Amino acid sequence: MTSIGRKSKAEPAPPTTLFLFGAHGDLVKRLLMPALYHLSRDGLLGDGLQIIGVDHNAISDVDFARKLEDFIRHQAASKGGDADRALDPVLWASLARGISYVQGDFLDDSTYEALAAKIAASGTGNAVFYLATAPRFFSEVVRRLGAAGLLQEQDDAFRRVVIEKPFGSDLPTAEALNACLLKVMSEKQIYRIDHYLGKETVQNILVSRFSNSLFEAFWNNHYIDHVQITAAETVGVETRGSFYEHTGALRDMVPNHLFQLLAMVAMEPPAAFGADAVRGEKAKVVGAIRPWSVEQARANSVRGQYTAGQVGGVAVNGYREEANVAPDSSTETYVALKVMIDNWRWVGVPFYLRTGKRMSVRDTEIVICFKPAPYAQFRDTEVDELQPTYLRIQIQPNEGMWFDLLAKRPGPTLDMANIELGFAYKDFFEMQPSTGYETLIYDCLTGDQTLFQRADNIENGWRAVQPFLDAWQQDATVQFYKAGEDGPSAADDLLTRDGRVWHALDE
Ligand code: BG6
Repeated sequence: MTSIGRKSKAEPAPPTTLFLFGAHGDLVKRLLMPALYHLSRDGLLGDGLQIIGVDHNAISDVDFARKLEDFIRHQAASKGGDADRALDPVLWASLARGISYVQGDFLDDSTYEALAAKIAASGTGNAVFYLATAPRFFSEVVRRLGAAGLLQEQDDAFRRVVIEKPFGSDLPTAEALNACLLKVMSEKQIYRIDHYLGKETVQNILVSRFSNSLFEAFWNNHYIDHVQITAAETVGVETRGSFYEHTGALRDMVPNHLFQLLAMVAMEPPAAFGADAVRGEKAKVVGAIRPWSVEQARANSVRGQYTAGQVGGVAVNGYREEANVAPDSSTETYVALKVMIDNWRWVGVPFYLRTGKRMSVRDTEIVICFKPAPYAQFRDTEVDELQPTYLRIQIQPNEGMWFDLLAKRPGPTLDMANIELGFAYKDFFEMQPSTGYETLIYDCLTGDQTLFQRADNIENGWRAVQPFLDAWQQDATVQFYKAGEDGPSAADDLLTRDGRVWHALDE
């Protein structure tokens, strides 16, 4: 594993007590525990890691560890894998020895007394409090951790808090949450997670851009016509209807995941791959997104919602038929936006962003579209137009990057075809199974904040999407698209009116 902020040889993390708030939730079972297991497989946890689940249900330490084990095995088997390969019994047993459980209400002071007792008994003062809870608990849990003195760092021992998304639901709520965190601890102790930053391909954008000088030569408004950023999903809202109803695609994906991708593509080279330098450049570029007026925001956005259709040959419900969704809901499950970045590198280059559920394929990609070459030299040839050329960076599922360029088709006349120069991760590197949380957890345990969001990163993201939220407050019309289609036709118009088209989605 590599992290952009880390030395090439990763040392095992220091002894730490890791509290998982929301221990019975999906995040812990599906992502965090498998990630911790992978870290232990790779020798990156060292001895002395205690994993302590915190939640209101009663369960013994042994049963809690067994429940996690069963889940990981079952998950591997249900994906057609071999449960024993997914979980080596000896390795799991050594990790499970450090697993225990505290039953407690997040809003009850006695819970925090129990946590203090666990730290006192652990033999290390280092503690990480991972808030894998519903967002409504974030400020209360942090306030209580502070009041119980659990966030005070003494004698070189660290105290850190990991906060999951969603971080606020608009600019004022994100500012209020930041203010609440910063009242009881310093920015250095706060790890705001965006799991997109744990993806190798996302980190690779920075490494590719800044370790190959060739990229810098054309990475600007002289050569780039526009940029498209897409996160297309085939899944619907699954069991999360009640969460999604008041969240919607914009809040769920744009100020966080899509802006992370935008920042990786658009930021200036940092002076070093350290937390302050990288996060400073990211904050600057997101802060340079032009603040649209409400009218401009309406004209530069499209909200969509899926109706019943077919995805991968399977009939699926429309959004309004999903569990815990209002039959007349106007929540968007798709959003397309045009944003402009007002700085010297990007002035005049539109960034088109789109994300949606129940689309035809799963495809998270960034397409950097180049300006056409001058046509003059082809005037007296068979070539009647030059097709667009681009660089496609696919984040998932087929991780890699491909230049789509023009070449001469063999033959006596000058005829052209689009060709591909590419790099697929799987052709060059052995990819170990991972959840994407491994790097992030390891970085938190070792104190590297490069891949975590600083307060200003978060607030700049919300500031840039706030005009869209304001515009939709006045007019919440959604355009329908059939499940299995790639968004409503109005999203195509957003580009065709500028003489451009979306890149066709492709796994
Ligand atoms: C989460 C969103 O943050 O990201 C989900 O809440 C979304 O709605 C998910 O499905 C997408 O993540 P990934 O890694 O599958 O692209």
